[in-house]
Amino acid sequence: QVKIDLDRAERTEKLQGMGCKRKRVEDIRFTQGKGSYVDDLKLPGMVFGDFVRSPHAHARIVSIDTSRAKAMPGVIAVLTAADLKPLGLHYMPTLAGDVQAVLAEEKVLFQNQEVAFVIAEDRYIASDATELVDVEYEALPCIVDPFKSMLPDAPILREDIKDKMTGAHGPRKHPNHIFEWQIGDKQATDDVFANAEVTIKEMLLDHRTHPSPLETCQSVASFDKVKGELTLWGTFQAPHVIRTVVSLISGLPEHKIHVIAPDIGGGFGNKVGAYAGYVCSVVGSIVLGVPVKWVEDRMENLSTTSFARDYHMTTELAATKEGKILGMRVHVLADHGAFDACADPSKWPAGFMNICTGSYDIPVAHLAVDGVYTNKASGGVAYRCSFRVTEAVFAIERAIEVLAQKLSMDSAELRMKNFIKAEQFPYQSALGWEYDSGNYHVAMQKAMDTIGYKQLRAEQAEKREAFKRGETRELMGIGISFFTEIVGAGPAKNCDILGIAMFDSAEIRIHPTGSVIARMGTKSQGQGHETTYAQIIATELGIPADDIMIEEGNTDTAPYGLGTYGSRSTPVAGAATAVAARKIKAKAQMIAAHMLEVHEGDLEWDIDRFRVKGLPEKFKTMKEIAWSAYNAPPPNMEPGLEAVNYYEPPNMTYPFGAYFCIMDIDVDTGVAKTRRFYALDDCGTRINPMIIEGQVHGGLTEAFACAMGQEIRYDEMGNVMGASFMDFFLPTAVETPKWETDFTVTPSPHHPIGAKGVGESPHVGGVPCFSNAVNDAYAFLGAGNIQMPHDAWRLWKVGERLGLHA
Ligand code: CDP
Repeated sequence: QVKIDLDRAERTEKLQGMGCKRKRVEDIRFTQGKGSYVDDLKLPGMVFGDFVRSPHAHARIVSIDTSRAKAMPGVIAVLTAADLKPLGLHYMPTLAGDVQAVLAEEKVLFQNQEVAFVIAEDRYIASDATELVDVEYEALPCIVDPFKSMLPDAPILREDIKDKMTGAHGPRKHPNHIFEWQIGDKQATDDVFANAEVTIKEMLLDHRTHPSPLETCQSVASFDKVKGELTLWGTFQAPHVIRTVVSLISGLPEHKIHVIAPDIGGGFGNKVGAYAGYVCSVVGSIVLGVPVKWVEDRMENLSTTSFARDYHMTTELAATKEGKILGMRVHVLADHGAFDACADPSKWPAGFMNICTGSYDIPVAHLAVDGVYTNKASGGVAYRCSFRVTEAVFAIERAIEVLAQKLSMDSAELRMKNFIKAEQFPYQSALGWEYDSGNYHVAMQKAMDTIGYKQLRAEQAEKREAFKRGETRELMGIGISFFTEIVGAGPAKNCDILGIAMFDSAEIRIHPTGSVIARMGTKSQGQGHETTYAQIIATELGIPADDIMIEEGNTDTAPYGLGTYGSRSTPVAGAATAVAARKIKAKAQMIAAHMLEVHEGDLEWDIDRFRVKGLPEKFKTMKEIAWSAYNAPPPNMEPGLEAVNYYEPPNMTYPFGAYFCIMDIDVDTGVAKTRRFYALDDCGTRINPMIIEGQVHGGLTEAFACAMGQEIRYDEMGNVMGASFMDFFLPTAVETPKWETDFTVTPSPHHPIGAKGVGESPHVGGVPCFSNAVNDAYAFLGAGNIQMPHDAWRLWKVGERLGLHA
């Protein structure tokens, strides 16, 4: 028996399947500089495009004179809206049902908006020539503050749609209004608030920031005039959707468009939407008949491609004196910039903001969101989160702290009191979601015990007394956040993009020698898909992960999928992978039965083989079965061993986690130091614990950035401040705190392998955790709500406001 167990353990280990800390196979090329990115592409005859951009936030274009630029040696063409208009391409549809100017026609609506596209023999000439395009502007008053967008005398921004009183999501109340979205029982919620013993109300700002991936957005378009075929390489998180959109916009048949997303250096939501650069490189290539490359620089990326957040959330909770939460009411003013280019599933104008009741059993709730136009870059992407979940979790987790303070109750205790209980799952939330599984009390208790919560509170109490006595200038904050994510968009009943249901896909082919190629409709941007999908297949089919190659990003070869964002890869394509593998396994069982001359039902699966029940020495390995599938399949069975699955998930998955941050802040400098950060995540079945840890580290680092300094700010003239890494806080190893990770495992009951997504959870949970730590540090001084970002200057200002400085 010992020998058999050892043999089984060895065979399991050899597979490097699910649960194994398999090293990332893609790192072999990434760490040697051998990745292949869009900008590495060099095609014969390739030319380069660069944009002329508006210096104004809001201005009328009086004239554009391209003659000096065109006369410059090396310049091949200059495109303006006048060139695109006859093709119907001066505007492009956005994912949110709006249209967005590709090149500005009569007006510019944000600083750095695209006005003309210069194409030249090399990138430097193109860049120099942009300065020779003479554009005359007439400056107009601009709107930077979204609270002023709908004032009666506000300048009208979108003259192209000023008479349209109905938008993609219903009636508009003002020419600068985009939509109003309401969900929940308003009357019941208002009644609860009218009669509640305790209520709180706070305007919580999740400020404008940017996903800032290390690699900016870029594309290379190559149109073959003879074949009438377009090949488009680009930094696309959703290559198939891009192919469909290009086909719909250009009129080119979809099978004549080849979209290829090679290696991608980070996306975080920034590379979901379509940008003017993609359209201009395609038009340029079609017109000129040579490949056209467009590569954004850092400032262009930060100031023009999709921003994130900018949600002004007036959040209210109603509760009993004992701390039982009875209702939640939220109004969001959403600043969408100049065009509504939010990347959300079609039916969700504010994404999944209605997950804002969080991890708590709140009987009634009402959410209303107003989207407005301002003179800022458009976007509204899910920066490392599933469609506005970071905003939602920020609202509830900050509000819990405000309520705890009002009740003079410990905020961990308040959370415990209101958590959805394990036996309540599947749980129907007041705002419409069905949470699949969770065990919040266990996770929270484990986290509190591990960090020594009681002792920390005692230490904090002592420090506060010492501060009051003037013995220390340091404040101690304990930040808590307990989040529930909603990932895996999504079920067709809830989610589509431009009418395409949000399924995903996997195609697995086993070769005669037993090695495998598998292709998915998703696209890794650094998450390690080549490593982890192989682990799922390894466990399901008993083939070593090292014998399995994973390929994504080529629309000619990969099955149609909706791409990677919103941590949907594991919940959707991961599920498709398991289901496709199981189809193969069912066929393999028939082949094995034929080979062993027994009935299928007499076989059982054992790690990497089918064996005859009760006769373990009689077996066929998957490798042997693969050979037979091609060479000697059972009579009447078609040869080959492959399967494809398009998986439409029955529900989202709901990962959760308990985070604690201990922070020390020097009141005299405003410098905040994270002493300890503990993150417990539950993402159901864990495929690769090492990759999960890496995902958590990355997500927390981005959460730290957002909470503690990262911001895209505008001055009153609409000048974008913070559009370079000189001003935009991108933490390096020097600033980044040390992360402690932990986990519980509550599998998803509806996912074939029980896995939930994880890539974004740490960001979602991390942002409020940091902000709660800062707010907690100052709470005993009567600071009230301190808005993010919490950089040293702003914290110093808090000290000044409270009269703490000498
Ligand atoms: O869609 P995206 O890849 O960004 O997010 P994800 O599905 O959360 O996966 C991120 C990475 O974590 C992938 O390499 C997954 O395979 C891995 N992961 C895991 O090992 N176990 C899980 N339960 C979830 C994700």
